[in-house]
Amino acid sequence: MTEIAPYTLLADGYDSVMEHVDYDAWVDYIRVVFERIRTEPESILELGCGTGSFAVRYVARRPIRYLATDRSEDMLRMARNKSAGIESGLEFARADFTNFSLDERFDAVLLLYDGLNYVLDLSAIGAVVRSVAGVLKAGGLFVFDQSTPVNSLSNEGDFEDEGCCDAFSFTRRSDYHAGRRIHSNKFFLHTGRGVFVEKHVQRVYEYAEIRFLLEDSPFDVIEAYDGFSLQPATDDSERIHWVVRKPQETSP
Ligand SMILES: C[S@@+](CC[C@H](N)C(=O)[O-])C[C@H]1O[C@@H](n2cnc3c(N)ncnc32)[C@H](O)[C@@H]1O
Repeated sequence: MTEIAPYTLLADGYDSVMEHVDYDAWVDYIRVVFERIRTEPESILELGCGTGSFAVRYVARRPIRYLATDRSEDMLRMARNKSAGIESGLEFARADFTNFSLDERFDAVLLLYDGLNYVLDLSAIGAVVRSVAGVLKAGGLFVFDQSTPVNSLSNEGDFEDEGCCDAFSFTRRSDYHAGRRIHSNKFFLHTGRGVFVEKHVQRVYEYAEIRFLLEDSPFDVIEAYDGFSLQPATDDSERIHWVVRKPQETSP
């Protein structure tokens, strides 16, 4: 068995493994969130875009300037294949969201589907937030989600499942360490070339931890939504969608 980096071989079958995720509904939801705060971004930067499932659906609805980034070249390769032939301002680029800068400025930044949970401590989340502030226009929005300890305890905790796709068959072992709030998923990927293992380590954060961090950040907190609803998040939320705004520049 050979250990390989997260999102290398898994990238080839990621869309099959995530077949249950309704990206169309996720795009609908984010569009409703924008509508609710009377914003229609003309440019979006997506962080941790994976295989681009959200991005291609978003630009299909609204063909704006859309830069989708991820740390994994293999996920980006799948994303570029998926978007081949789409006429829009969609572009993919490699970026590590814990430390990045760009010359371009965006109306909105998105980080969806547990990307933030790959950041293993709060000070590193602070660095993500500062990098995002640097690439947003004044008044721009940062919309991101987080998975909470409630989700790990109720749904995602300890389980094993298996499946197969064209690229591999897999067994996934999920373990949650409640004390450290560390959630690890081990993917055993069986291929004609042998068995490869990818270890994905995530940390789950309490609602209050992220709120305190944001209140001490360059952003104004606009909303924290419970799951995919427009109801306020609480300590019992399993997933939270945060909407925060970079303040308008004030004249001296
Ligand atoms: C659970 S996947 C979600 C992908 C995509 N957002 C989706 O909805 O399908 C998490 C993604 O975050 C990316 N990622 C994790 N840590 C990252 C980092 N520090 N910088 C950039 N991307 C990162 C991974 O490569 C992976 O593509």
